[in-house]
Amino acid sequence: MAASALRDAVNHFLNIQQLTPIDVHALLERAIFLKKSQFFPVFEQRVLANLFYENSTRTRVSFELAAKRMGMIVINFDIARSSESKGEEIRDTIKTLASMGIDVAVIRHVDEGLPHAMAECAPAHLHVINAGDGTQAHPTQAMLDFMTILEHKSTLSDLKIAIVGNLKHSRVANSLQSMCQLLKVKHLTLVAPEPWLPTYPVYGEMTSSLKEGITDADVVIALRVQRERFSSEDHIDLLQYQRDYRISSTSLLCAKPDVMVMHPGPINRGVEIESDVVEGPHSCIWQQVQNGIWMRMALIERLLTNFS
Ligand code: CP
Repeated sequence: MAASALRDAVNHFLNIQQLTPIDVHALLERAIFLKKSQFFPVFEQRVLANLFYENSTRTRVSFELAAKRMGMIVINFDIARSSESKGEEIRDTIKTLASMGIDVAVIRHVDEGLPHAMAECAPAHLHVINAGDGTQAHPTQAMLDFMTILEHKSTLSDLKIAIVGNLKHSRVANSLQSMCQLLKVKHLTLVAPEPWLPTYPVYGEMTSSLKEGITDADVVIALRVQRERFSSEDHIDLLQYQRDYRISSTSLLCAKPDVMVMHPGPINRGVEIESDVVEGPHSCIWQQVQNGIWMRMALIERLLTNFS
């Protein structure tokens, strides 16, 4: 495998920007190899702790399955019953777990930058993985999304990718923009009603026209409407949104005939995407879920192999 910034420079996986294009391709290819070969690297007795301060199904379970298939011990840290309820700070939780031999801490938290802060105060043997920090980043999701795209498309840089929906609140969209910038994807279109467009897009062109945004698209990524993150200026008429932006088999007619339809999940069926599209021939949504295990396995392997 090619020389890698991930191997040489960092002990943690916190954002896409820390990677080089070579890192990304090596990790994507490794995850695809693990999936095809059904080969599980072995890290018996190494310990992974899932610390999810926000709810999760896909990310938490796929980290657990990836680690268990590699023979690791998995702790699903129960925050509500932990000593944080008695006032302990999260950095002391991390240090306490690290003192008991945790090797990998997978952290999801509402505070932006919190996994980075934990990585800074972590002892040297501990690897921190960002499983989503506020609205800032969700780098392992962007990795598994590009793994899925690479399974269908021979080249990534020539693609037209459209991300549709609640971009302003989407950490997935931020990490996808960073990924497109890193890999020099030619056409990235960010599609949303004005109030939901990002104030400072990382990369890509913005439009409020769904038709303009997804015409000739190779990949359409629908985002969840994240009601829980709305502030007063983010409220729009949701029925109007569904009429204008919901991904349907009709709206997809202007995309490429072999368009891939993706969604990071969880899905609001009928809100941002029609149920028949979720289950239709263009949908790669369940493949994304499956790939989450293999991509996270490749990431854990890389961190443990390089720094053990
Ligand atoms: N895509 C994603 O992060 O899903 P979960 O919230 O279920 O982990």
